[in-house]
Amino acid sequence: MNELKKVYLDNAASTKVDDRVLEAMIPYFREFYAVPSSEFSHSPGIQIKEAIENARESIAKKIGAQAEEIIFTSGGTESNNIAIKGGAYGQIDNGKHIVISAIEHRSVLESAKRLAKEGFELTVVGVDEEGFIKIDELKKAIRKDTVLVSVQFVNHEVGTIQNIKEMVNMVKSINPKIIFHTDAAYATGWIDLNVKDLGVDLLTLTAHKMHGPKGVGALYIKKGVKITKFIDGGFSEFNLRGGTPNVPGIVGFAKAFEILSKDTIEYVKGLRDKFYEKALNEIEEVRLNGARDFEKRHPNNLNLSFKYVEGESVVLYLDMKGISVITGSACFSRTLEPSYILMAMGYSHEDAHGSVRFTFSKFNTPEEIDYTINVLKNVIDTLRRLSPLKGE
Ligand SMILES: Cc1ncc(COP(=O)(O)O)c(C=O)c1O
Repeated sequence: MNELKKVYLDNAASTKVDDRVLEAMIPYFREFYAVPSSEFSHSPGIQIKEAIENARESIAKKIGAQAEEIIFTSGGTESNNIAIKGGAYGQIDNGKHIVISAIEHRSVLESAKRLAKEGFELTVVGVDEEGFIKIDELKKAIRKDTVLVSVQFVNHEVGTIQNIKEMVNMVKSINPKIIFHTDAAYATGWIDLNVKDLGVDLLTLTAHKMHGPKGVGALYIKKGVKITKFIDGGFSEFNLRGGTPNVPGIVGFAKAFEILSKDTIEYVKGLRDKFYEKALNEIEEVRLNGARDFEKRHPNNLNLSFKYVEGESVVLYLDMKGISVITGSACFSRTLEPSYILMAMGYSHEDAHGSVRFTFSKFNTPEEIDYTINVLKNVIDTLRRLSPLKGE
């Protein structure tokens, strides 16, 4: 019997670690396992400290920051928690109002909601039908007592890239004291990020969506921005986050960032574009969700709806054929609620249930695209024949 072909198209959730990244990490399990805080006691500690500082330097350079403006964390979720809660409390002398967008990752949404329970006022700004923030609404939301604005760089579900620079300029022209945070977890490595050019105060990075390891990320904190510490228990990361750092992860993070090339990104875009073209040619009534201008869309992202069929059914049928995709965002699809992101974009319940996210990587091949489209065509045909939504 032929083995089931496996095609992994869930690269916005996480990616396969590159062998070069893994090789860079292995010595930090086997040979260099001291803790950096022992740098004042012995030479293994000094070696570890150096490895961390080299990684910090390298990652800072990638985003146009200074090394001392980067703190390492356990990933995008933690960076967002520190940015939102630590950022808001750090500026509390200026006010207690914060602003986020309606399509943020849950780590931003829930951090902001927690602050609202603790006495901050929260304004949530809407998006249009392609997932772009409504700039006028953002402008109206800014107040004298606003201390923090957080808008994601790119949406993890529909791939829409925001114009962060424009928003930063607008927000700061109204109230220059405001701290602007952007969650660039899904953008890390894929899209040019220059903090000086963007003008942001805080920026979230993560390693595992660009062939780096899971469980490691970073937060850029512009020099002079006050952050209230909330992980107590030591002085590490410029006394902002207690705990022993994930040294192999940090080394792997820097390596992954270093090796993700423009050619790789072009290759992945090519796969994505081929997939979309074939889907449009071979399947009827396909709808693209998110930015229609592909220049304003994450290079590895396609989010499609197939009229009359539910995303959940497509995902399950594809999985039976070895193809891994998701409906809604990874952390949300455990429930059968429609995606809050598509709902914020003005979709009906029915349309919001129909979305399927296909996200590609350098480990996918053109043959996998052909195979997936063939399977998808049959799955959609079958489901439409069974669909009560499709009248005769
Ligand atoms: C936009 C966005 N923000 C934050 C996160 C959380 O990152 P991590 O998985 O590193 O905690 C993710 C990952 O799913 C994401 O896509």
